[in-house]
Amino acid sequence: MKYGYFDDKAREYVITRPDTPLPWINYIGCQGYFGILSATGGGYSYYRDARLRRLTRGRYNNVPADFGGRYVYVRDNESGDYWSPSWMPTQSDLDDYSCRHGMGYSVISGKRGGIRAATRYFVPLDETLEIWQTTITNERLTPVDISLFSSVEFCLWEANDDATNYQRNLSTGQVEVEDEVIYHKTEYRERRNHFAWFACSEPLAGFDTQRESFLGPWRGWNKPVAVEDGKSRNSIAHGWSPIGSHHVRLTLAPGESRQIVYVLGYHENPNEQKFDPPGSQTINKATVKPVIAKYRDIDNVEAAFAALGKHWDELLGVYQVASPDEHANRMVNIWNAYQCMATFNMSRSASSFETGIGRGLGFRDSNQDLLGFVHMVPSRARERILDLAATQLSSGGAYHQYQPLTKKGNNDIGGDFNDDPHWLIIGVAAYLKETGDFSILDEPVVFDNQPGSEAPLYEHLRRSLQYALDRLGPHGLPLIGRADWNDCLNLNCFSDTPGQSFQTTTSKDGKVAESVFIGALMVLSARELSALASQVGKADDAAFYADVARKMDETVRTAGWDGEWFVRAYDDFGRKIGSKENEEGKIYIESQGFAALAGIGVDDGKARSALDAVRKHLATPHGIVLQQPAYSRYYIEYGEISTYPPGYKENAGIFCHNNPWVIIGEVVLGNGDAAFDYYSRICPSAREAISDVHRLEPYVYAQMIAGRDAPTHGEAKNSWLTGTAAWNYYAITQWILGIRPEYTGLRIAPVVPERWPGFTARRVFRGVAYDITVTRAGAGNTVALVIDGKAIDGDLVPPPAKGVAAVKVEAVIG
Ligand code: BGC
Ligand code: NOJ
Repeated sequence: MKYGYFDDKAREYVITRPDTPLPWINYIGCQGYFGILSATGGGYSYYRDARLRRLTRGRYNNVPADFGGRYVYVRDNESGDYWSPSWMPTQSDLDDYSCRHGMGYSVISGKRGGIRAATRYFVPLDETLEIWQTTITNERLTPVDISLFSSVEFCLWEANDDATNYQRNLSTGQVEVEDEVIYHKTEYRERRNHFAWFACSEPLAGFDTQRESFLGPWRGWNKPVAVEDGKSRNSIAHGWSPIGSHHVRLTLAPGESRQIVYVLGYHENPNEQKFDPPGSQTINKATVKPVIAKYRDIDNVEAAFAALGKHWDELLGVYQVASPDEHANRMVNIWNAYQCMATFNMSRSASSFETGIGRGLGFRDSNQDLLGFVHMVPSRARERILDLAATQLSSGGAYHQYQPLTKKGNNDIGGDFNDDPHWLIIGVAAYLKETGDFSILDEPVVFDNQPGSEAPLYEHLRRSLQYALDRLGPHGLPLIGRADWNDCLNLNCFSDTPGQSFQTTTSKDGKVAESVFIGALMVLSARELSALASQVGKADDAAFYADVARKMDETVRTAGWDGEWFVRAYDDFGRKIGSKENEEGKIYIESQGFAALAGIGVDDGKARSALDAVRKHLATPHGIVLQQPAYSRYYIEYGEISTYPPGYKENAGIFCHNNPWVIIGEVVLGNGDAAFDYYSRICPSAREAISDVHRLEPYVYAQMIAGRDAPTHGEAKNSWLTGTAAWNYYAITQWILGIRPEYTGLRIAPVVPERWPGFTARRVFRGVAYDITVTRAGAGNTVALVIDGKAIDGDLVPPPAKGVAAVKVEAVIG
């Protein structure tokens, strides 16, 4: 069953009924100002940091889940009927409803009683504001007299404090209303230099800024008294809950359409120019007024929307494919790339499943996310890498998370997740292969944000690996620390106290528990560091790291081998995890997938055997589960993984982030059919037809799909902000389709299903547009290349002569 359809031409998903199983959201904003926007007008906005600079409120554990947002109410002033074109919050029956989620914008349209209202929401490039552009049309045969009421509920900036510190916050709210613009200025009187503003393009019949005046006592957003009466209260908030609502009254002739623009913005003033006149308590509006004036003009709004479309043309134009599979095409060309940009912007901070008040940017997560967006925004990838590296500790270890506003590591979570440092190497290698910008390695970067501690980025990479070499365990495998990629495998935690954090509690000295997964990751990171070192002429380093990779490869294949598959880890007692010796959790996906991806055991058959075991024990029609058998009880020595009921999250859920490791592993082993089969099982678009089972957005990946041990097998959770986006994008674009940036050129090494006759693609790489045609001539994966009409040896397209901007690549595979 479906709740809408893909409009690929428009790059939109069109939701045709508002009662989707769960809120289906989109994001607006891509630089500093961001918003979550659901298909029914819900969600909130923030500037840069979802916790520290929240403009509007999101309510936690709300029912319905998606209640509160950017609502416009329409009132028929003759009948008194009022309703929401976005269905929420009034939930009035609509004669027609649609929500078009597009690239950085959504258009929500509703019709009732012959009146149609469609609102396009977006954030213009280079601005710290959002626009709601409402088109209201009278489709009746008679004139109508209508009222429109806008509404937002302001957050008092620090979202965590806003949700909890009522005794203070109910007294601090302050607003100003000037020239019909509503200004929210709570705490501006003291230490803040920023305020929010909410403007409308039309003359107002009234406004409200105090929630209780607008809604009325004992009422919610579904029944505001001001809307019911058709009359704003012109309230000024003093304390309690500041809101913004404009009332516009219009008469429309039959067939007449009008546009109204609402603008919600964030603005900062220099500290010494906060007030006007100086010494007063009135906001100085000199610098914000031109911005307000600009976007009250519809022509400027249209121009800003067109610029946003162009921006996305450019981002998505870097990689476009036409393959025989419409789902793969749609994901690569539109939605998966789009999701990668969302994860770049949000990391794991704000979604329907991430509250925006918890995690900042994850060190591990953000480095992996680079794999999915570096080709679209290389300069911003560069900045992200340098920010991440600046939080690294001088030991080579890393803060697990940092706050985007301050860019400082979070002390409350700290470090010692022993996989973290490796991801920096992998992220930097991806950046270098994409851009060829080796200057980044010489950038002086501080450790732990301490001025004076600068060292070249290259030195940070060396320390990353040294950190691992300094922490090898009894089998010569890397010690796991607090956890590795699997945050829930807490082998040094031994927690018996409710509420204790599995992530930060450490009860053991950490000298025994080892991770085979980090071993495999280290093979890859050491190999990447070696390759990178030889690119910059550091032959000794290159040889040293190649040797590290070789030794760890050997260790993983010996101490890490269980007979048919790779062991997952050793616990604090030195016992295997993910072994036939275990009663539960006998086989895990991570060590199988990552070993194969890293090329471990390709020559001696271990990789094949491991992936065969994955197929036999872990693969389901909805994707590959994390381990089997699921843990049926709590194992104090394993930690959070065994706290989840069987089939959910890390306890045998389908963790879509690590499925692509197996997909890439199958590619490495030359098995295109298996790789693409696994790809399709979790591909959101391919799952659209079972939206009633999957339940979340069919246009983006979710972190997890419930595993076969769960009663809800096939149901997705945690959509949008997940490493799944980058890894699946990387798997399909660089491994299955096989168009892969390397230091010395663009590799064309597709490993696609045997039934595919071929495909075409366009890839912009280091400023050159490659038009690629792949044709199948036989069942295998060997590649013969013709570049601009000339056959070459191998599968690597070297850079063209200077000045050449377009290259034609013909590849015959077989
Ligand atoms: C989740 C993990 C996540 C971690 C982040 C755990 O509760 O199960 O998926 O990585 O929290 O802190
Ligand atoms: C989600 C976290 O964001 C990520 O860092 C982690 O690797 C996975 N969960 C697995 O635990």
